[in-house]
Amino acid sequence: MTHHLQPVTAFDMAIFGGTGDLAMRKLLPALFRRFVDDQIPPASRIIGVARTEQGDADYRASVAEALQRAIGGDAELLERIPAFLQLVCYRALDATGEAGWQEFAALMCNGDAERVRVFYLSTSPGIFVDICQRLREHDLHRGNTRVVIEKPIGNDLDSARAINDAVGAVFDEQQIYRIDHYLGKETVQNLLALRFANALFEPLWNAAHIDHVQISVAETVGVEQRGPYYDHAGALRDMVQNHMLQLLCMVAMEPPTSLSPDSVRDEKLKVLHALKPIDAGNASRLTVRGQYRAGAANGGAAPGYLTDLGRDGSRTETFVALKAEVGNWRWAGVPFYLRTGKRLPLRMSEIVVNFRSIPYSIFAEGSGTAQPNKLVLRLQPDEGVKLWVMAKYPGPGGLRLTCVPLDMSFADAFGVAQPDAYERLLLDVVRGNPTLFMRRDEVEAAWRWIDPVLAAWQSSGDAPHGYTAGTWGPSASVALIERDGRTWHDDDSD
Ligand code: BG6
Repeated sequence: MTHHLQPVTAFDMAIFGGTGDLAMRKLLPALFRRFVDDQIPPASRIIGVARTEQGDADYRASVAEALQRAIGGDAELLERIPAFLQLVCYRALDATGEAGWQEFAALMCNGDAERVRVFYLSTSPGIFVDICQRLREHDLHRGNTRVVIEKPIGNDLDSARAINDAVGAVFDEQQIYRIDHYLGKETVQNLLALRFANALFEPLWNAAHIDHVQISVAETVGVEQRGPYYDHAGALRDMVQNHMLQLLCMVAMEPPTSLSPDSVRDEKLKVLHALKPIDAGNASRLTVRGQYRAGAANGGAAPGYLTDLGRDGSRTETFVALKAEVGNWRWAGVPFYLRTGKRLPLRMSEIVVNFRSIPYSIFAEGSGTAQPNKLVLRLQPDEGVKLWVMAKYPGPGGLRLTCVPLDMSFADAFGVAQPDAYERLLLDVVRGNPTLFMRRDEVEAAWRWIDPVLAAWQSSGDAPHGYTAGTWGPSASVALIERDGRTWHDDDSD
């Protein structure tokens, strides 16, 4: 099967924070790739917006550099950069003041009044409200207009509500796209296909057959240049409140009646509501926090978090492991172990569904033990699905059991490169499909569950456990799962 492109009609997309890291590293390269695939009509306009005074030519030059970095040496792609740059222009404006808004509004209004208009707020959340208010003052909020907001949406329930209220005062909920780029990853969408386009898994997808689920998102990078943001956030807010809970929801939700935005999001919301609380009474048993110390990363020495941050005394966690439970009939008694961290030995994100052991073995003792089946969904790198099954080791020597994977690498199976999550999500915004975006109630329900964990950590007065950069986090994370007689999945050990 060849890939099938759904063209969109010409649109305007203004990227606030257009000179920033996300725009240069992810958004513009994603738009470029869709353009190269002829999915973006050349009459579309991409407008970088930021405070810096510069003209179109300078902005285009920095976009060209960013694209070259993103695509490497592929000559065919490099050739298409000038055509893409024809779509790109730049406007300087002061998001919190008056400067530049008249000119910006004039530009946005000088085209076809019916065309889709997207305002992507890739800025600090502190100025979301100012930008939305200015968009209203200049009457840019009506019609086929959508606004995209990036995480962090707040740093607790109250601040998330304040942002949602303020953005909601200008835009209707159907116009607001809260992006969680994990939902755009191919394997996450494949989870929908796997669960709901196969008769095989769904009958087993419950507490009677599943022992526990693990969700791991490991990164080798440290906090890089993002210290000031990260030190206020920490791994729980940065990764668990959004990406990891969204993954958990996709695994645990009931079958939606369709892929319509509200069917899917209603089911995810029910999962968030069903999460059993973690608070001061049980946080020390169910959660582990860590902070990296000096060690090794990417083949060299790596400084500790405090050195990366440039100051002492921070108790921000760069690693979290926790045991969550979904209190409903389907999942009663099935733990969901989540772990994420910076400066771990490898970059890897995966969901591991661990099935129960066979009820009785007919095999002689010397045959080896039947290992429980595992379904491993690899989000990155090497996207794919592995189903670990027991098989007979070939040849003579008696019947010896061995665990082998039915291994499907998406790259091998489909022979096409996996698109970046932003490619899909940006075009979903243009198409007006919010299925893979977070609704207001989901974001707030996630904070409602996270806030008591943060409060429990705060009141305990404990510091995070140290772990050496380049290791799998503090030993307490291993103890968290081993206390229950289970271990973290390690592909190499199977
Ligand atoms: C972001 C976090 O949302 O996701 C970062 O703020 C993290 O801290 C990143 O590095 C991970 O995304 P990915 O797609 O590289 O796994």
